[in-house]
Amino acid sequence: MKEKADIASSSYHVPVLLTEVLEGLNIHPSGIYVDCTFGGGGHAKAILQRLNEGGKLVAFDQDADAKQNLPDDKRVLFVPHNFRYIQRFLRLNGITEVDGVLADLGVSSHQFDEGSRGFSTRFEAALDMRMDQRQEKTAANILNTYSETALHKMFEQYGEVTNSKTLAKTIVEKRKASPLQNIEAFKNAVSEIVKGNPNKYFAQVFQALRMEVNDETGALKEMLEQLPAVLKSGGRAAIITFHSIEDRLVKVFFKKGTFSEEEDENPFVTTEKVVPLRLVNKKPIVATSEETKRNTRSRSAKLRVAEKI
Ligand SMILES: C[S@@+](CC[C@H](N)C(=O)[O-])C[C@H]1O[C@@H](n2cnc3c(N)ncnc32)[C@H](O)[C@@H]1O
Repeated sequence: MKEKADIASSSYHVPVLLTEVLEGLNIHPSGIYVDCTFGGGGHAKAILQRLNEGGKLVAFDQDADAKQNLPDDKRVLFVPHNFRYIQRFLRLNGITEVDGVLADLGVSSHQFDEGSRGFSTRFEAALDMRMDQRQEKTAANILNTYSETALHKMFEQYGEVTNSKTLAKTIVEKRKASPLQNIEAFKNAVSEIVKGNPNKYFAQVFQALRMEVNDETGALKEMLEQLPAVLKSGGRAAIITFHSIEDRLVKVFFKKGTFSEEEDENPFVTTEKVVPLRLVNKKPIVATSEETKRNTRSRSAKLRVAEKI
């Protein structure tokens, strides 16, 4: 029975940087840990193996599908909500401080491979891309309602799409004739302006849409801002990102306790700023060549670890 569950969750998602995450979190056997992105439960199960009877794991996932991977373990508390509300849900469950927080950002292989969810360019489905299906905003809503400027900015920032301005203009033009509801119809509508390799081009376009639908950078920022309050002194945060914008947010916040990269305006005024976290590793931790061969998804993963001072 146990074997079956393990097989099911590894086809759901293979965890990246597993050894590095466990090392980074510096797990105390009787501690309280939060996995913000439970998914297939790969990281969570490895954390549980290092906890004793007194330990606890709070697992967040806003996708109802993740629930099928929950182990039958009374040390686990599942929170089926967005991790942007981390402090609120911890408090609701009587937890004020934790020993460690993990976030492995983005979508799981399961979400990507489940054609009907609309995350992948490989399948024909509705333009959905919601991780949390209780939410209203879908990729179709964005394509049919955003202004040309907002579409342009989104494709440029999140997808680094080379001709994002032309793409936004084409979308606004094509949607006048009929709303863009499905993946195939959307791909056909913009086919004339695709630049370079179509698979790569649409992968970038879909990434931008997915990040916008799920407000991925917004949720990350809100969660990071709550870390100093939810971590115990000496507690660790381990964040895995797959996008340069997210990695920059994590790096700057861990270093400065704010998202502003600018130095203080007046260098002669020395106001002592208290930085709540300390970076454990100067450089981001990346996958070994052995892992990247085994799991191509790990190629763009960057892990940063910080400790609450
Ligand atoms: C990359 S997968 C995590 C995989 C997991 N570490 C494992 O070992 O199987 C990301 C998961 O986090 C969830 N997720 C992403 N952003 C979230 C957010 N803001 N709040 C809650 N869950 C989120 C997704 O639904 C997905 O299941």
